[in-house]
Amino acid sequence: MDKNWNDIDVFAKEAIKEAGRKIIDSFDEVLKIQTKTNVNDLVTNMDKQIEKFFVEMIDKQYPEHRVMGEEGFGDQVEDMKGTVWIIDPIDGTMNFVHQQRNFAISIGVFHEGEGVLGYIYDVVSDELYHARKGHGAFLNDEKLSPLKDVPIEEAILSLNATWLVPNRKVDHETFIPLVHRVRGTRSYGSAAIELAYIAAGRLDGYITLRLSPWDFAGGKVLIEEVGGVVTDLNGEELSMVDHSPVFAGNPAVHQEVLNQYLKK
Ligand code: IPD
Ligand code: CA
Ligand code: CA
Ligand code: CA
Repeated sequence: MDKNWNDIDVFAKEAIKEAGRKIIDSFDEVLKIQTKTNVNDLVTNMDKQIEKFFVEMIDKQYPEHRVMGEEGFGDQVEDMKGTVWIIDPIDGTMNFVHQQRNFAISIGVFHEGEGVLGYIYDVVSDELYHARKGHGAFLNDEKLSPLKDVPIEEAILSLNATWLVPNRKVDHETFIPLVHRVRGTRSYGSAAIELAYIAAGRLDGYITLRLSPWDFAGGKVLIEEVGGVVTDLNGEELSMVDHSPVFAGNPAVHQEVLNQYLKK
């Protein structure tokens, strides 16, 4: 790797903090809210403004890099050649609109398909989770410990209610015995925060039926840096250019849930 990843890391952190300040400042203003694929799929002027901010900053500083962003202001990225920034300007837009908390900026920087830098910034809590492959993962200035094995009976699993109802992706009854067995379940409404919590050991697993690369790119780098696992529901590697069901977790929990509940 010929790049100065340290400089890119410093640049990314500064841009993320500045974006966070812009979001906090917007709390005093009236949001423009629109819908996307359905009435509950929200997007605001801030999602767009923040993505544009990152795209312009990166274009100026690193014109040879490409950007894949949820709101479409970056490049049309169809492969992972070179250096690609995968950006979700606001993950948890519904929480942003309704709660003004529990949302995050999520960024993964990949080089030739490999995750090198990962960031998840819980703006309101001022918690910046950041990782550089081979150099450790941190929550603000505190180094995150490698994940320790957790027995399923003591695990907290994050999942949302979509699998409670019949759906096309999994038999919705698959998870009933698992939900009975774990210590507890949670649902925060921001994939990025749920992935960051796995990296920090606050959650032991996260199962969800459909995410896009910008939802999981930053989290994947963070979780892998502390020895966790991020795959699809069959334990297969995720594509960084396609949406997919996602199962992330502590390695022990991931393996047991995969073998006992998910693998056919
Ligand atoms: C959404 C959130 C949510 C997840 C959805 C995502 P957005 O991202 O991460 O928790 O369940 O699948 O689309 O649209 O708020 O960035
Ligand atoms: Ca969205
Ligand atoms: Ca998202
Ligand atoms: Ca988003």
